[in-house]
Amino acid sequence: MIPNEVIIDLGALRHNFFEIKRLAGPHTQILAVVKSEAYGHGMIPVARTLESSGVDYLGVFEVQEGLDLRKANCKVPILIMMGIQSDEVSDVVKHELAPALFQLEIAEKLSRISVEQGKVTPVHVKVDTGMTRLGVCCEDLKNFLKQLLPLKGIQLQGIFSHLAVADQPGDPFTDQQVGRFRESVGECRRLGLFRGGVHIANSGALLANKGLDLGMARPGILLYGSPPAQGWPAAASFKPVMTFKSRVIHITTVPPGASVSYGRSYITQKKCAIATIPVGYDDGYSRLLSNNGEVLIRGQRMPVVGRVCMNLTMVDVTGVEGVAVGDEVVLLGGQGKEQITAEEIATRIGTINYEVYCSIGKSNRRIYINS
Ligand SMILES: Cc1ncc(COP(=O)(O)O)c(C=O)c1O
Repeated sequence: MIPNEVIIDLGALRHNFFEIKRLAGPHTQILAVVKSEAYGHGMIPVARTLESSGVDYLGVFEVQEGLDLRKANCKVPILIMMGIQSDEVSDVVKHELAPALFQLEIAEKLSRISVEQGKVTPVHVKVDTGMTRLGVCCEDLKNFLKQLLPLKGIQLQGIFSHLAVADQPGDPFTDQQVGRFRESVGECRRLGLFRGGVHIANSGALLANKGLDLGMARPGILLYGSPPAQGWPAAASFKPVMTFKSRVIHITTVPPGASVSYGRSYITQKKCAIATIPVGYDDGYSRLLSNNGEVLIRGQRMPVVGRVCMNLTMVDVTGVEGVAVGDEVVLLGGQGKEQITAEEIATRIGTINYEVYCSIGKSNRRIYINS
């Protein structure tokens, strides 16, 4: 079997969850975002760990994820953050999922089917305060709620919005969005249109203590042990949950002037020992790491040389004492005193840690441990 493993440390996940609770304080509920296979960490094991740790709510993107969680016997309330399509209404009602709502036609169908099934479906109205992505505009919220309230079989449990730049400490747009949100929700409360819970804080807002007083926070990336961007000292107490490991499968010694991999983009300057690792872009290890990445072998950083192939990557191990076929290679995570973080990989390839976790986590066999 190919010796590649993504190791998910559920003990670290639990630690991060309790760090989040500590930061959020006793009056703020936690909606844990476990969409997209829990950012590549595996939605079901992550959800089970969070459920047993006392999470209040789970957030997924689409209905199918909610159904998968219910099938796995997850009992926690589940928010479908994308909203739902007309043909998904029956499943949502039957499996007691809580959809984001911002379209009246969907609300009407949800009401009809809920009444037919003798159920009351919780919903969270989504408000667009500046993402221009999904939701009712702030100005339309009042009217939307007025149309929603007479509908039977629906319980307006929450109103929420999403922040565009909460990962950038000090960007005034976050305060503007939170302010707009408070104002619209406040008006609806004053008019007696709404009495439920409100949430806007993602990981960045949680670290910056913005919008936590609203009663619920919706962190994702912090659960997985990473800050939402560089420059968050408050995230230092969080532990990375994912490690990506492989093994050396071949070592060859080549003279100066040898070319390595497709395109001959790397030419050895001296006699070199080149190790081959069975990891490539098919495993979520980006081709942009060609001549750019580093891996850990025997506790030392070693450079990726030549192009990352679909299934193989070469590393210059010249001068590493005792390096041998079968040696463990860490591509993401720690070995000895060294650590390669998702943030480091993201910086090297010009993306964000979220994408690194999703790509690697979803492309490999995951093994769960409990440190
Ligand atoms: C609607 C919504 N809420 C919360 C989150 C969590 O964001 P973060 O991972 O930055 O905490 C996301 C992530 O994409 C989201 O789409």
